Amino acid sequence: MFGSRGVFVMKTMELHLTVNGISQNWSIAPGELLLDVLRRQSYFGVKRGCEKGECGACAVLVDGKPINSCLMFAAQAEGRNILTIEGVADGGKLDPLQEAFLDHGAVQCGFCTGGMVISAKALLDGCPDPSEDQVREALAGHLCRCTGYLKPVEAVLAAASKRKPRARRAKPVAEVAR
Ligand code: FES
Ligand code: FES
Repeated sequence: MFGSRGVFVMKTMELHLTVNGISQNWSIAPGELLLDVLRRQSYFGVKRGCEKGECGACAVLVDGKPINSCLMFAAQAEGRNILTIEGVADGGKLDPLQEAFLDHGAVQCGFCTGGMVISAKALLDGCPDPSEDQVREALAGHLCRCTGYLKPVEAVLAAASKRKPRARRAKPVAEVAR
C-alpha cells in the first residue's frame, strides 16, 4: 500500500503461534506463506521445493495434522501449534523415526526427509501399528528423487515396531513402490 507521501509502505500484522513448543510473536505481511515465514525465522528444515503442494518437502504439523506450508498463509497459523522437523528430536536424542530412516538407508540427499518424517510422525501418533498400505498412503504426498520409496516405507514400519514392541512384526515391503 502507499502512505500519505506516496511512499510504498509494507502492511504488517502480528502473528502469535507456537513453534516446536515455544511461543512466538512475529511480524508478517498478510499474504505471506507459512513456508516463507518459517524459513525467515531460520527453520531451514522446512524445505522449499515445488511451492505447489506437490512434493511435500515443506510439510509441517499444524495442530498435529500434516500440512504443506507452501499452501498455507502464515496468518492462518494464528494461535496454532506448529511442529517442524527441528522439533521432532528430543533435545539431542533423535526420534525413533529419524533413527529408523538412518538405519534403513532411507536418507540420501535428505531434501525430502524432513517432510516424510513429519508425515510419518502424524501417522504413528494417530495409528501406532499401521499397515504397509497406511504407511504408503501417509507418504504418498512426498516426492523423493534419490532414495525412492521402498526404504522410507521400511523405516516407518520399523519405527512403528520399535515404538510398540509387541505389535505385529512388519512384513517385507513389496519391491515396487505403488
Ligand atoms: S514446496 Fe510445498 S509441497 Fe512442494
Ligand atoms: S533423499 Fe534426496 S530427494 Fe529424497
